[in-house]
Amino acid sequence: MQLSERAISMASKFKSATVLLSCGTALFGGMCLGFGSEKFYREVAMPSMRVVSAESAHVIAVKTAAWGLVPWNTYKDPPSLGVTVWGRQFSNPIGLAAGFDKHAQAMDGMLRMGFGFVEVGSVTPEPQEGNPKPRVFRLSEDRAIINRYGFNSEGHEVVLKRLQGRAEAKAHLPAEKRGIVGINFGKNKTSPDAVNDYVKGIERLGRLGDYLVINVSSPNTPGLRKMQGREQLAHLIDKVLEARDALPCTPRPPLLVKIAPDLTQQDKEDIAAVVTRKEGKVDGLIVTNTTITRPASLQSPHKAEGGGLSGPPLRHMATDTVRDMYRLTQGELPIIGVGGVSSGQDAYEKIKAGACLVQLYTALAYEGPPLVKRIKRELDELLRADGYNTVSEAIGSDHRQK
Ligand SMILES: Cc1cc2nc3c(=O)[nH]c(=O)nc-3n(C[C@H](O)[C@H](O)[C@H](O)COP(=O)(O)O)c2cc1C
Repeated sequence: MQLSERAISMASKFKSATVLLSCGTALFGGMCLGFGSEKFYREVAMPSMRVVSAESAHVIAVKTAAWGLVPWNTYKDPPSLGVTVWGRQFSNPIGLAAGFDKHAQAMDGMLRMGFGFVEVGSVTPEPQEGNPKPRVFRLSEDRAIINRYGFNSEGHEVVLKRLQGRAEAKAHLPAEKRGIVGINFGKNKTSPDAVNDYVKGIERLGRLGDYLVINVSSPNTPGLRKMQGREQLAHLIDKVLEARDALPCTPRPPLLVKIAPDLTQQDKEDIAAVVTRKEGKVDGLIVTNTTITRPASLQSPHKAEGGGLSGPPLRHMATDTVRDMYRLTQGELPIIGVGGVSSGQDAYEKIKAGACLVQLYTALAYEGPPLVKRIKRELDELLRADGYNTVSEAIGSDHRQK
């Protein structure tokens, strides 16, 4: 085939795929808006998404939310779910984890779904494709996902424009009405200077985030997780704190480090020592990213795919890591607990282990938007059943009972 013919054929395939995705998005959005019930999502909308690949379903879900086609959130967060962290009032502690809205396209749609906060990213300095497809796998039998996206990112410049546009559109609103959005930073695969990638992220986008996350725990970028080692982490934190402290905004956004669930006891002790240093203290931890382990309980034929595993099989590992990090940091640092949360009980376990906020991603891919309201309602009931008036009273309660 001639070069020009091949180009025309590729362009036409691309056009068809775009039309298909757009139609799918519109159809899916319309269905969801029309029938926002939990049963409809569980039995119709979410199973129907499984006819397309996991990655296409993700793209459709992001577009749907970006267009604001999310079911109206009718649940009013009760005062018991309110929690104040870093001087910010969160109307509920359930957030959307990084990786869903990688390019900052769907923040407001996701906030409207009822999340108390949304984390965008991971975003890398330069745009990059990520790993070859397929790179996301549904482990339906385990309600889990394995992904090896490898930081597909539209890059700082594009994300900056979107965040700037949003900030301008919301400038007239009081801070508490703008919705809390964190920014999660990654590094380019071939970057010769990882530290500089994170510093650039803080310098360029930092003033637009309500909190900032240094992601050194994704398993899909070679060498990244080594940055959790004692010396490397201390050096990285020194540099990013310097960049954060030089930001031209007040208050300066809190800086968090996101860690893996696959750490040895020594690794955890080292991280705790570094993040609580007087001269270079971070403002919080996100615990945890996906795991590279494969629990023996996995049933899905995709269980041997390479990448990070998320969802229920990660839950206990992640909660144990929250508990360890809370103990090792003497409860001094706010912890966002994440990994396998799909019910109020799961969220409550993370809170009792030491998390002040909780995030999720995988369960949303299986259950859709009604999940958020269900988790909040269940968490409120669990708090009350144990005699707590607020989330804050329950944070770290496991440690006090022993
Ligand atoms: C498809 C997918 C992509 C992800 N991408 C990122 C990412 O870019 N940056 C990041 O810090 N975490 C990423 N994560 C990890 C999640 O933020 C979260 O830490 C992990 O999935 C555990 O939560 P879950 O079990 O509720 O999904 C990703 C997870 C999934 C499933």
